[in-house]
Amino acid sequence: MSVNLKGRSFLTLKDYSAEEIEYLVELAIDLKKKKKAGIFEKHLLNKNVALIFEKPSTRTRCSFTIGAVDEGAHPEYLSKNDIQLGYKETVEDTARVLGRMFDGIEFRGFSQETVEKLAKFSGVPVWNGLTDEDHPTQVLADFMTMKEKFGKIKGLNFVYCGDGRNNMSNALMIGCAKVGVNYTVASPESLFPDKDLVELCRTYAKESGAVITITDNIDEAVKGADVIYTDVWVSMGEEDKTQERLAILRPYQVNQKLMEESGKNSTIFMHCLPAVRGNEVTNEVIEGPQSVVFDEAENRMHTIKAVMVATLGD
Ligand code: CP
Ligand code: NVA
Repeated sequence: MSVNLKGRSFLTLKDYSAEEIEYLVELAIDLKKKKKAGIFEKHLLNKNVALIFEKPSTRTRCSFTIGAVDEGAHPEYLSKNDIQLGYKETVEDTARVLGRMFDGIEFRGFSQETVEKLAKFSGVPVWNGLTDEDHPTQVLADFMTMKEKFGKIKGLNFVYCGDGRNNMSNALMIGCAKVGVNYTVASPESLFPDKDLVELCRTYAKESGAVITITDNIDEAVKGADVIYTDVWVSMGEEDKTQERLAILRPYQVNQKLMEESGKNSTIFMHCLPAVRGNEVTNEVIEGPQSVVFDEAENRMHTIKAVMVATLGD
């Protein structure tokens, strides 16, 4: 593949072609093999990367930290309490200062606009570690896990159950539409994804051959599913919505009966984690033989490393 991502930011999969997404997954698979064999090629030697976190994180923070160190870079963690991003200092000014010192910047926080401004004003590659709207690095780990389990990504039937308009559902819909995975959202109508985003994804899907389906009928949705995916019912920053979400999302829980409704023994269960067992997924499913959630979690590290190596590596 003749893909060159040097100097690029990674803000949303909208900016990446199917070929570029597949390249990053393949690179991650290669980096995983090398790490297991004890081979560290230090593609990021002498680089410094800033890791800005406005919201908490286990997987994303550790993936950037370990990915950077494995490749010879120095990661610097900056929580919202350490810096004054957006208050007492504009995002533009912080971006320009960090861009003078660091070779790359990860951002996790609320607004997609902030990560876009960081990219625009820092002059170095910026990586989106999750915003209210998007979570593109998670999708790479999910695709890598699908590739490992099914030997392919394109043509699979992917069903997302739950909050159909959160960052995970958005990011997965964009990614699936790009690479040709049939993407179904099963959620209550009030939590359907944004119409403009669905329309945009349908334009990608036309090219890739994917079918995008939005429905409130979860039992119909999961028939023939290769992947059943869910995420928390209440995302970070939306805690005031807890009661209303619990009330409307209960019928969208992934339980063993729902897994069986796919009609396939090969159906896998995926979740980006952290999970609230007993809400969006039962303990039986997440601990069961169809669950691949910890492979997915490990693959966060390999895929995030791949993004840094591809955009910043020598
Ligand atoms: N899946 C994911 O992004 O996990 P963290 O919130 O722990 O980073
Ligand atoms: N939708 C979840 C994803 C966590 C990785 C959240 O934003 O809290």
